[in-house]
Amino acid sequence: MTISPAEPTIVATGLRKSYGDQLVLDGIDLSVPKGTIFSLLGPNGAGKTTAVKILSTLIRADGGKILVAGHDPASDPDAVRAAIGVTGQFSAVDNLLTGEENLVLMGDLHHLGRRRSRLRAGQLLDQFGLVNAGKKVAATYSGGMRRRLDLAMGLVGQPRGFPWMSRPPAWTRGPAATCGRSSASWCPAASRFS
Ligand SMILES: Nc1ncnc2c1ncn2[C@@H]1O[C@H](COP(=O)(O)OP(=O)(O)OP(=O)(O)O)[C@@H](O)[C@H]1O
Ligand SMILES: [Mg+2]
Repeated sequence: MTISPAEPTIVATGLRKSYGDQLVLDGIDLSVPKGTIFSLLGPNGAGKTTAVKILSTLIRADGGKILVAGHDPASDPDAVRAAIGVTGQFSAVDNLLTGEENLVLMGDLHHLGRRRSRLRAGQLLDQFGLVNAGKKVAATYSGGMRRRLDLAMGLVGQPRGFPWMSRPPAWTRGPAATCGRSSASWCPAASRFS
């Protein structure tokens, strides 16, 4: 039996980005199959967050071809935004709100409406093991609980397949990269999950 590879959900070829005269991304190629966890590893300042910002429409690349869920982030950013969720390097959790309120706020930002936002918040609190913490303000959460809430917030809009994280929590990381490049290079590591 032949198993065909899953279609890529993120494809980037020759991705380039400079800040002023500082070249940050020098022709990066990525192909991420659907249904996989993909880790982009590199030392501080390698350009990981820059790449995530480009793929998630926050900034534009200087060059290269990109398709995210079949859409070009530069020419069709709304379609890309509708298809993805993003959890950033720094937490988006509001410490003054409860876990549930943070999720409902995210639902409001997705225009889900109050009833659907509350429903979705309840589902995610359950899914992320935060039911008992849902009514407590996030300031009282442990680091791991806050990270789980942050990740759940990235899933409120029910993205097609993937939240992206710059610096994800350890349990979402793929296997250690063994691409054999030097530590100053990009080291993509992908693992299929079931
Ligand atoms: N808005 C900006 N203006 C100018 N330079 C920037 C900007 N954002 C990032 N840089 C520079 O681009 C380079 C790559 O930064 P980036 O944040 O993408 O790295 P990173 O791989 O995410 O690093 P870290 O592991 O520390 O999070 C760094 O040298 C950084 O100083
Ligand atoms: Mg970063």
